[in-house]
Order: sequence, then C-alpha cells, then structure tokens
Amino acid sequence: MLGLERQSAAAAHWTELQYQVALRTDESGSGRLVLVVDQDAEGMIPSEQKGTTELLAFLVAHYLGPEWELENIVVASSVRRKGLGARLVDELLARARKAGSEAVFLEVRESNQAARMLYEKLGFEAAGRRKRYYVNPQEDAILYRCGFQASLRDGL
Ligand SMILES: CC(C)(COP(=O)(O)OP(=O)(O)OC[C@H]1O[C@@H](n2cnc3c(N)ncnc32)[C@H](O)[C@@H]1OP(=O)(O)O)[C@@H](O)C(=O)NCCC(=O)NCCS
Repeated sequence: MLGLERQSAAAAHWTELQYQVALRTDESGSGRLVLVVDQDAEGMIPSEQKGTTELLAFLVAHYLGPEWELENIVVASSVRRKGLGARLVDELLARARKAGSEAVFLEVRESNQAARMLYEKLGFEAAGRRKRYYVNPQEDAILYRCGFQASLRDGL
C-alpha cells in the first residue's frame, strides 16, 4: 500500500506506522475498513486474504459510530480509468449503508479533478471548504458528503 501511495502525488501520504495501525483490528466500535484490489482478484477481497501479487488499488476508510470517512484511495497509474476507483468507492458506500451509517465524508485537494469527478459521479456533494488545509503545496480542501436516507439505509 505504501509503495502504491508513494507513486501518487495526489494521494494522502501516511507513514508505515499509520498503515500498521489502520490494519489492526479494533473491538471498540470504531475502526477501519481496508479494501484492496490485486492483480488476480476477480472482485474485491478483504485485505487479510490478499495474496502476494501486485496491489493495483486500495481504499482506507475510518468509522466512528454512524460517521464514516474515506481517508485514502489510490489506483495504480497503469490501470486508471478502468473503473477500479468507482468499484472501491461503491463497495465502501454499500458497506457503510449496510452498517447503518448516516453519511460518508471525505476531503480532497481542490485541484484534484479526477478524484472530485469520481466522488461526484458516485453521489457525493460538496459540503464545505477547509482553507489552506493541505501543505506542500498549500491548497484548500473541499469537503464532500454522501448521505443516506433513513428509508434506504434501513432497507424500508
Ligand atoms: C482518483 C482515482 C482514485 C480514480 O480512480 P480510477 O480507477 O481511475 O477511476 P474510475 O476509472 O473508477 O473512474 C470513475 C469515474 O471517475 C471520473 N474520473 C476518474 N478519473 C478521471 C480523470 N482523470 N478525469 C476526469 N474524470 C475522472 C470519471 O467520471 C470516471 O467515469 P468515466 O471513466 O466513465 O468517465 C485515481 O485517479 C487515483 O488513484 N488518483 C491518485 C490518488 C488520489 O488522488 N486519490 C484521492 C485522494 S482524496
């Protein structure tokens, strides 16, 4: 995951320790969802079952009660625009909805058009701006939210 993320300037950059913490299981009701796509995966597979083949894409999300946050998503540059990013975000939304989440949030650099188009296509709406949120280079973050209607969320 670290290797893939390091190839992508637009991704959120984490330390190895942060990835180790993200992959730890947590019994407290908060925790993280990690989805990965590797070379021979026909579908998305839980990270703990992945083999040793090359990782093509991953997504990390944090949940705390009814609020979920998409923290990072990276697709290898060689396989972009083939629907992997959309599949990962769709899977996150499906799992968050099933878990009774009210909404999924995320922040993205204002200039990151590829990611913003992906999120908007999948139903996220711009919900705010964080001034000078990013450094190197300094840039505003756009906050996105994808809310679930209670009737849809609860399958009524
Ligand atoms: C953003 C990212 C995850 C998209 O992944 P992807 O697998 O290429 O996206 P998909 O093929 O699923 O694209 C789904 C839709 O998103 C939009 N989209 C994706 N890339 C786009 C681009 N370069 N320009 C415009 N729209 C784009 C399109 O609407 C696309 O649908 P279409 O191909 O039918 O037009 C990928 O570009 C990436 O890893 N970027 C670097 C890391 C990053 O910026 N992460 C986000 C941090 S917040």
